[in-house]
Amino acid sequence: MTSAPVLYVNCRAATLADEAAYGLIEDAAILVEQGLIRWVGPRTEAPKAAERDLGGRLVTPALIDCHTHIVHGGHRAAEFELRLKGASYEEVARAGGGIISTVSATRAASVEDLVATALPRLDALIAEGVSTVEVKSGYGLDIDTELRMLRAARALAALRPVTIRTTFLGAHAVPPEYKGRPDAYIDEICLPALRAAYEDGLADAVDGFCEGIAFSTAQIARVFDEAKRLGLPVKLHAEQLSNLGGAALAASYNALSADHLEYLDEPGVQAMAAAGTVAVILPGAFYAIRETQAPPIVLLRQHGVPMAVATDMNPGSSPMTSLLLAMNMACTLFRLTPEEALRGATQHAARALGLTDRGTLAPGLRADLAIWNADHPAELAYRMGFNPLHQRILGASK
Ligand code: NIG
Ligand code: FE
Repeated sequence: MTSAPVLYVNCRAATLADEAAYGLIEDAAILVEQGLIRWVGPRTEAPKAAERDLGGRLVTPALIDCHTHIVHGGHRAAEFELRLKGASYEEVARAGGGIISTVSATRAASVEDLVATALPRLDALIAEGVSTVEVKSGYGLDIDTELRMLRAARALAALRPVTIRTTFLGAHAVPPEYKGRPDAYIDEICLPALRAAYEDGLADAVDGFCEGIAFSTAQIARVFDEAKRLGLPVKLHAEQLSNLGGAALAASYNALSADHLEYLDEPGVQAMAAAGTVAVILPGAFYAIRETQAPPIVLLRQHGVPMAVATDMNPGSSPMTSLLLAMNMACTLFRLTPEEALRGATQHAARALGLTDRGTLAPGLRADLAIWNADHPAELAYRMGFNPLHQRILGASK
């Protein structure tokens, strides 16, 4: 972070700060001081300050990955082979594989192990211009391991120049020792773990998995009631494999986001629109489990629900560490526009995390910038497996 004012010049800025196409300013200047954007506009109108030439490059807000599970033990390559032979994601989970197999590996890992294995995944995201990463627990499913995962996530922030937002996901799956007793798991493990995470300042938000292979809306509601009592915002994995009404439940708690949403119906979309809940679109999971039903993008658009795009990086349903690829997939598989994909990985991703200090290029916001070797912002979602990042510039909070 530079404290003396710097005027970035000779760039094209996709500010995303207004409704106009990308909020694009040709021949832009951006004044940064003490880690904050002070001024953005045409270079000819810029205030005077020491200049830094960006060589005609494209500037966007730094990217935000608002849904990841980068902290976990082990991998699930064997499950990938099984699924390629015809087993479905649900069948693997019901046979004791899936999330539960990652739980065994995560329980066996120390904080140091979890940090060491998460770092290369975090580095891959950072290398593509990501400045903020959400990290969930949910592969511990016992009190100690849930807390260890969150401690590992917090530790990452001290090791790399990045903001980490932690999410408690105790209601991710029913562990083997509570098989057939999900309510007892919620009472005896999930809620006490949530309270402990809160007391240790380890959770910025609370999430759950509302699904036939996980928890019902009534069970998720009990977790959300506790989150509300503690003053923590909620979000939910909802309508990924079937429609249980999870998104509407989340909206009734003013959730920051409902995520996945392949099986979301119009009443669910309306509930999200009324509550201002962000739809987090996760094309990596859709692709990896060979889902065929796409989320209702046209309805979400019609009802004005903001759409975010994230990697859902996890060892089972989305072993993907590229947010740029998630943006490309959101366009190709779901027909988002490249502008929606970029807003989804910046502006709306910030909102899905409850962050109001970043996500666009506007005065007063953090100067978290991504400088790209690109002419036009549509290039970011257009390419596959190519990284056009030139540099990240990181700002600071007020
Ligand atoms: O976001 N849907 C539930 N949770 C993860 C998958 C976790 C896993 O398979 O390990 C997801 O897709
Ligand atoms: Fe997820």
